[in-house]
Amino acid sequence: MSYQTHAQTWEQRATIRTRPRRMIEDDELSFYPQERQPLCFDPIIAKLGDEVRDQILLQSLYKYINDIVIFETEIVNKTALDIAKGRFPFEFSFDARYDAMSVVIDEDYHAFVAMDFQNQLELQTGIKPFQTFDEIELSRAIPRAVHSLSDPAHKAGMELIAVAISENTVTSDVAAFASDKSVKRSIKGIMADHLADEGRHSRFWIELVKIYWQEVDEVTRIAIGEAIPKFLAQYLTNEIQKEFDTALIAQLSLPQVVQKRVMDNLVGSYPITSQHPMIANIRRFFNASGLLEHEPTRMQLQQYLAG
Ligand SMILES: [Fe+2]
Ligand SMILES: [Fe+2]
Repeated sequence: MSYQTHAQTWEQRATIRTRPRRMIEDDELSFYPQERQPLCFDPIIAKLGDEVRDQILLQSLYKYINDIVIFETEIVNKTALDIAKGRFPFEFSFDARYDAMSVVIDEDYHAFVAMDFQNQLELQTGIKPFQTFDEIELSRAIPRAVHSLSDPAHKAGMELIAVAISENTVTSDVAAFASDKSVKRSIKGIMADHLADEGRHSRFWIELVKIYWQEVDEVTRIAIGEAIPKFLAQYLTNEIQKEFDTALIAQLSLPQVVQKRVMDNLVGSYPITSQHPMIANIRRFFNASGLLEHEPTRMQLQQYLAG
């Protein structure tokens, strides 16, 4: 099976090649989709009025932007750069390595746009992020899954598959954001720009996993197949989101009793069930990448395939 390059589409469509800088507008629209922040629907928060709600949405956008920077520069680009520079312990063709370098450029550019936007928001609102978070769920989930394997070649394979899974879930997440009617046009604009690149990325990672999976030996497939559920269990938590929401409530200057009631309501706000939208994307990735053609791996992933 040979790798088909996306170099030509990249030259024509990559946002770094085609999109102008976007400027934040000063209007009545929201910073962040309310549907993505269940705190806005808490009856106590709702009673506190628009100003509190806007604070919550702005801080949620800051977190989202910061998460993008972490994801692009520390997670995706670590693996993409290893592949591009031939450091990844599996031989990919020149075309695949060249495209990996275009992914590095795209992701660095997405992080650059995110930094620009955070700065524009700070200047416009006079409000800074109340706290900077230096981890996302993947910052914990990937090293743990990789660590669970002893052979270095298996570790790299697990890392490739974990990045491929996350690149395939982030895409639909950004899509939902880009189409929200209540959000400022410039913010939806940067999400739409980002999305334009991520479609190409999700196919890129699927192709690499397909090639990898077909060429590695049975021992490798079995070892990685056993590690994937461990990765998913760590990835699909809401630990960090909960830490963020708790810290956000704590700095809202509410009476102690009220604060406690809002925090109690937080528990179980983000159920990860087989109906969760991310699961559907993960399942689509499993099918497209050929992982499920390996029977022992299919058995390992059974719980994510039903529903
Ligand atoms: Fe990206
Ligand atoms: Fe990407």
